[in-house]
Amino acid sequence: MVLLFMGAPGSGKGTQSERVVDKLSIVQISTGEILRKAKADATPMGLEAKKFMDAGTLVPDEVVIGIIKERIVEDDCKGGFILDGFPRTVGQAEALDIMMKENDLAIDHVVYFDVPEKELVDRLLSRAKLEGRSDDNMEAIQKRMVTFKKDTEPLLDYYKNRGLVRSIDGTGTMVQVTGRLNEAIGIS
Ligand code: AP5
Ligand code: MG
Repeated sequence: MVLLFMGAPGSGKGTQSERVVDKLSIVQISTGEILRKAKADATPMGLEAKKFMDAGTLVPDEVVIGIIKERIVEDDCKGGFILDGFPRTVGQAEALDIMMKENDLAIDHVVYFDVPEKELVDRLLSRAKLEGRSDDNMEAIQKRMVTFKKDTEPLLDYYKNRGLVRSIDGTGTMVQVTGRLNEAIGIS
């Protein structure tokens, strides 16, 4: 099973990935997490990515495409994977199509978590107090929202044309959202 999780910052992509990976025996691939680790390890890629991430803008396509290209061919991806936060631009989506074809894979579902902006901002500001993520401040949050609308939201049409989009209400409790997710992708 190959799933793409799409949604604005704070919509629950990471939370819901973690809640379903074990049940589906698949792995979560979060470009945000991979980049945050590279940043913490101060690798050349991490240092390059830092300025974009802290500002709430996108890391260049070639960097994230390179990450995904290497990651999806690893052994633990053989049973399937969730792409959490990739693709985010049409260029990334086109590169993913090529990679999928090369590896004889196909996207099963593109899940869109729909959450009103006010709730997104509240969630991220609450997380800021708990985790202190460097992009969970008002300025970067606003930039992330604008970037999502401009660069990533158009991808919904890209996948809608292929009948792959399952749009779900991302509000309510985490358990309620998981229930809707399971129903949308046809698992019980
Ligand atoms: P990334 O790490 O992907 O961040 P994001 O998209 O901004 O989204 P978040 O991780 O903040 O939110 P989420 O949807 O995972 O929600 P979560 O489950 O955490 O990317 C960070 C940066 O890396 C980007 O800005 C960019 O610079 C770079 N990057 C990453 N991928 C890239 C790409 N493909 N191309 C270019 N650049 C890229 O939930 C949020 C909070 O809400 C949590 O505290 C959670 O506990 C809480 N919560 C979740 N569900 C609920 C619920 N139902 N009710 C109440 N609270 C909830
Ligand atoms: Mg996340």
